[in-house]
Amino acid sequence: MKAIEIRNKYLNFFKAHGHSVIPSAPLIPENDPSVLFTTAGMQPLVPYLLGQPHPAGKRLTDYQKCVRTNDIDEVGDNRHLTYFEMLGNWSLGDYFKEESIQMSFDFLTKELGIPVEKLSVTVFAGDKDCPRDEVAATCWKKAGIQEDHIYYYGKDDNWWIAGETGPCGPDTEMFYDTGKPACSPNCQPSCDCGKYVEIWNNVFMEYYKDEKGYSKLKQQNVDTGLGLERMTMLLQGKETPFDTELFKPVMEKLTELQKVDKIESRRIIAEHLRSSMMIIADGGRPSNLDRGYVLRRLIRRMIRHMNKIQIDLNELSTIIDLNVDNLKDLYPELDKNRETIKTVLIEEKDKFVKTLANGEKEFNKEVAKLKQQGKSIVDGKMVFRLYDTYGFPPEVTKELAVENEMEISMEEFDKLFKEHQEKSRAGATQKFKGGLASTGEMETKYHTATHLLNAALKQVLGSHVHQRGSNITEERMRFDFSHPSKMTEEEKKQTEDLVNQWIQAGIPVEKLEMKKEEAIEQGAEAMFIEKYGDIVTVYKIGDISLELCGGPHVSNTKELGHFKIKKEEASSSGVRRIKAILE
Ligand code: ALA
Repeated sequence: MKAIEIRNKYLNFFKAHGHSVIPSAPLIPENDPSVLFTTAGMQPLVPYLLGQPHPAGKRLTDYQKCVRTNDIDEVGDNRHLTYFEMLGNWSLGDYFKEESIQMSFDFLTKELGIPVEKLSVTVFAGDKDCPRDEVAATCWKKAGIQEDHIYYYGKDDNWWIAGETGPCGPDTEMFYDTGKPACSPNCQPSCDCGKYVEIWNNVFMEYYKDEKGYSKLKQQNVDTGLGLERMTMLLQGKETPFDTELFKPVMEKLTELQKVDKIESRRIIAEHLRSSMMIIADGGRPSNLDRGYVLRRLIRRMIRHMNKIQIDLNELSTIIDLNVDNLKDLYPELDKNRETIKTVLIEEKDKFVKTLANGEKEFNKEVAKLKQQGKSIVDGKMVFRLYDTYGFPPEVTKELAVENEMEISMEEFDKLFKEHQEKSRAGATQKFKGGLASTGEMETKYHTATHLLNAALKQVLGSHVHQRGSNITEERMRFDFSHPSKMTEEEKKQTEDLVNQWIQAGIPVEKLEMKKEEAIEQGAEAMFIEKYGDIVTVYKIGDISLELCGGPHVSNTKELGHFKIKKEEASSSGVRRIKAILE
């Protein structure tokens, strides 16, 4: 079965079970500097897991584009990927363990045709925070899993949370037995010898964790995630995702082009190319900060491995075309952004080629000096200087040091690098807090106008409207929000009038501090609730608007003048964009 068939079967199955199919959120969370990329299907759904009603209902399903970068250095082995697709289904305070488990069992055995004896499951063993999940175990038995295929593990294996705080709960994981011989009599799903492969994770999300500990959420949710690449590989009886149709054409092309045979390099090139293309298609661009830096690293690592197996870098364009053609049925955005993807990748490649040449020259100069002084250690400061001034990748410095029979102090470099990153991050957060840009008088006014516009759109178009992004300059505001269709002239006029009415009414803007839960309970708007701490700042404009926000704002709406919508247009699928001014 091909990946696209698995995806379609999944979405259709859950649709038939009353779920609304929602679109994948972009890989780059809009205006949220607290996370680099979308890492799980639940991430864009956090406000709804916490209790806000979702416009599409209580049962949702989607495929979500995800990037996880903590394993970036592992790519090249037979299983790690930085980009992957997660199929998921959610109950937002609707069904819970029994129905969730029964549906998973039916999908795996009936839709995908996996023999029941190939399945094993794990459930939470229980601890001081949460009882042993006998309910889940009983549901599995009822569905048809043999008792000796059910395993109990603790928090390390059977508890799921995204990061340190947020909605979480015990989970139950499904494993596929590849049929490989057991590595020992004790071999079981938690063993990483490769006999058992995790295929699906159902999280029973009914807790919230903050710095103080666990509390119960308002509702019992289910959050699930099934990795598409892995499932495709298993159903096709392949050893690695690189042997499936998702990567095969590009892997074969690389084999044809290479002059040195190295499978790890081919995998790294194929994997990083796919990730970079997906990130670029969703608006990411290489830079030296945060997300941009991750993208830069992916591209540069890809280029280094092209060099390593001696593939002519001019072939990049051919490889991109081939990959777009291969993946465009799954991701039409790749085809739509084909030229942008090419331009960004090729420009970055050209820059990197120059960087490599300059950096290597500088390295050689420095090393000659060191050798003259009778020294044999390339210290971390030098590695950092090469990186910081010339953009020379530390891993290349390391390779060169080894070639020159020099020792190298990477720990010192890591320390300096961390300090540098923390500084940059603090800078980015500052920027965000300060109203997405600078905060002059006009920007402050636009900031308040944004809250009024958000509230007006909800009144005119409906409660499904939520902020999806915002950008403010001295001259104008831009506001992205969820809404399925073009606004009519009438709707635009009503929205404009409403905002102006509120401005004229001279309503005070109050800044309040409250507990996050309290803000949620009062129905405060928040784009990324998970990024806020326990105590949040909320701006209240009469009974019109209540939003979690760092400010700053004007103290009375009458300061805003006259509000005018200049343009209303599509931003991305299901998201509209308004450009407006204050005059
Ligand atoms: N959110 C869960 C995961 O990522 C389903 O595994």
